[in-house]
Amino acid sequence: MKIGIGNDHAAVVMKNEIAAYLEELGYEVADFGTDSETSCCYAEYGEKVARAVAAKDVDLGILICGTGVGISLAANKVKGIRAAVCSEPCTARLSRQHNNANVLAFGARIIGIETAKEIVKAWLDAEFEGGRHQTRVDMIMAIEEK
Ligand code: RB5
Repeated sequence: MKIGIGNDHAAVVMKNEIAAYLEELGYEVADFGTDSETSCCYAEYGEKVARAVAAKDVDLGILICGTGVGISLAANKVKGIRAAVCSEPCTARLSRQHNNANVLAFGARIIGIETAKEIVKAWLDAEFEGGRHQTRVDMIMAIEEK
C-alpha cells in the first residue's frame, strides 16, 4: 500500500519521522514535501497529496502542519477527499471505520511524535465498516455534486 505524505514548514521533522515509521511498518511512501523549514503555505501540500489520493496515485494520504487544520481544510476542497484531523488514536480509528477518511491530518505543534505514531497505526489498521456508515458517507459526497 502506498501512502502520500505532505506537510508545511512547521512539520518537516515530524514528517520525516512519520515517513520512516511508515516504511518500518512496510508501507511505500510518496513524499510530496515540503522539505524546507522556510515559511510556506500548507494549502499547496494539502492539495498535492489530496489530488494524488483522488487520482489513485496513492492509496491514502497523511498531512501534517502546525495544527493539522489548515492542511486538512485545503485537502477537503479536492473532490473525493475526506480528510480528518485527529489528535488521538480513537478518533483516528473511527474516522476510518465510520467516515472512510482517505486522508489523515494532525498537528506537529499539537501532539508529540509517539502520539503521532499511535494515531497513524490506529488509522492504518482500521477498516471502513460500510453499512449504515456507507449511507452517511454517500450523503457527504453527494454535497460535492450540489
Ligand atoms: C503555520 O504557521 C501554521 O499556521 C500552519 O502550520 C497550520 O497550523 C495551519 O493550520
